[in-house]
Amino acid sequence: MNRTMNPLKVGIAGSGIMGAGIAQVFAAKGFPVVLCDSSSAALENAEKSIFNGLEYLEKNDKLQGNSAGAVFNNIIFTQQQQHFKDCTLIIEAISEDFNHKRELFGAVENLVKPDTLLATNTSSLSITALAASCRLPERFIGLHFFNPPPVMKLAEIIPALQTEGRVVTQSAEIIRMLGKVPVVVKDTPGFIVNRIARPFYGEALKIYEEGIASFATIDWAMKEFGNFRMGPFELMDLIGNDVNYAVTESVWKQFYCDPRYRPFITQKRMTDAGLLGRKTGKGYYDYSGGAEKPLPVKDESAGEEIFFRIVSMLINEAADALYLGVASRDDIDTAMVTGANYPKGLLRWADELGLHTIYSKLLSLKEEYHEDRYRPSVMLKKLITMGKTFYG
Ligand SMILES: NC(=O)c1ccc[n+]([C@@H]2O[C@H](COP(=O)([O-])OP(=O)(O)OC[C@H]3O[C@@H](n4cnc5c(N)ncnc54)[C@H](O)[C@@H]3O)[C@@H](O)[C@H]2O)c1
Repeated sequence: MNRTMNPLKVGIAGSGIMGAGIAQVFAAKGFPVVLCDSSSAALENAEKSIFNGLEYLEKNDKLQGNSAGAVFNNIIFTQQQQHFKDCTLIIEAISEDFNHKRELFGAVENLVKPDTLLATNTSSLSITALAASCRLPERFIGLHFFNPPPVMKLAEIIPALQTEGRVVTQSAEIIRMLGKVPVVVKDTPGFIVNRIARPFYGEALKIYEEGIASFATIDWAMKEFGNFRMGPFELMDLIGNDVNYAVTESVWKQFYCDPRYRPFITQKRMTDAGLLGRKTGKGYYDYSGGAEKPLPVKDESAGEEIFFRIVSMLINEAADALYLGVASRDDIDTAMVTGANYPKGLLRWADELGLHTIYSKLLSLKEEYHEDRYRPSVMLKKLITMGKTFYG
């Protein structure tokens, strides 16, 4: 570990899905953890889920010879923020509400030492705005873990405009010590993964709304021709249609209603109806026992066309993120593979499919629809003009 860094003692605010998972990850690596939640019921749930998680790791020999009980003892479960006093890193994972997070950091800053790192796990709020609400914004950073934290390898590191360089370096070291993969991202809506993945859902919904194909057919096409582990509708059902809608709407609004990110009525209606996906037993698919799965229409050329349209839109997003300096080429590709389980990095994929082919596809969609969502990234045009590729 960096010599200038204090020994890690981690305080985690919020013991929901993310806070509990992050606590488990640090404890499993031997770090002392204080897990604090305002709700005693949430803490009880966290205790159970962490213990079960650790028992599973012990059974699979993944606790470096330690027992689940010993690792579990690395965690203090509490409703009292005072236990954060001697923590050297605080990770906030409370509900997604700017004012609540701001209040929490205000209270925490009065407890901890001036060199304690302050991090937020927010998915959608501005890191810079949260940092601005702190007395010492230079020690503030975004550490965006993915769900479930014990399984997902990626963590996006998002410096605020005010964050000092050493905080970025130390954060990356901490993520590596956890055996995870850090990628550094500019503080922009959706960071890398939640920004670039938008067309996986959006373009699929558009194709569905236009009656070009059923959701089962679109899911089949993405798995068959793109090797994606799940189709867009299966994945929306897993994430929760309400959660996916909220992320889409938030990213779209933060981009000043850029049509590339716009939500779709289908998502809204699924949410209105409570058809949230697996968690309610029904979404695009019916998860009740014995329910029949709708069959896709396995027309090869139509399937390839669906895949190529969606992947072209994804590549365009990745190219634009690179063009706008959201992250480096390698971090963009790494993030989509390790944070979204994509079969390969989109910029590498672009080179394989041919930049000119992708560019032409986007232009033909733009010509057909007259919609700005299909405008090709300047990055694609520039590389084609120079006769280059992303990796060439
Ligand atoms: N769920 C995901 O897939 C996911 C993925 C990445 C990031 N995130 C982000 O992580 C954060 C937490 O998400 P989650 O899904 O774990 O939420 P959650 O609803 O499961 O848990 C939030 C917890 O925070 C507690 N809480 C609320 N206010 C508090 C306060 N002032 N002090 C202490 N505890 C408080 C609640 O009691 C609850 O237990 C959010 O910012 C979310 O955007 C979520």
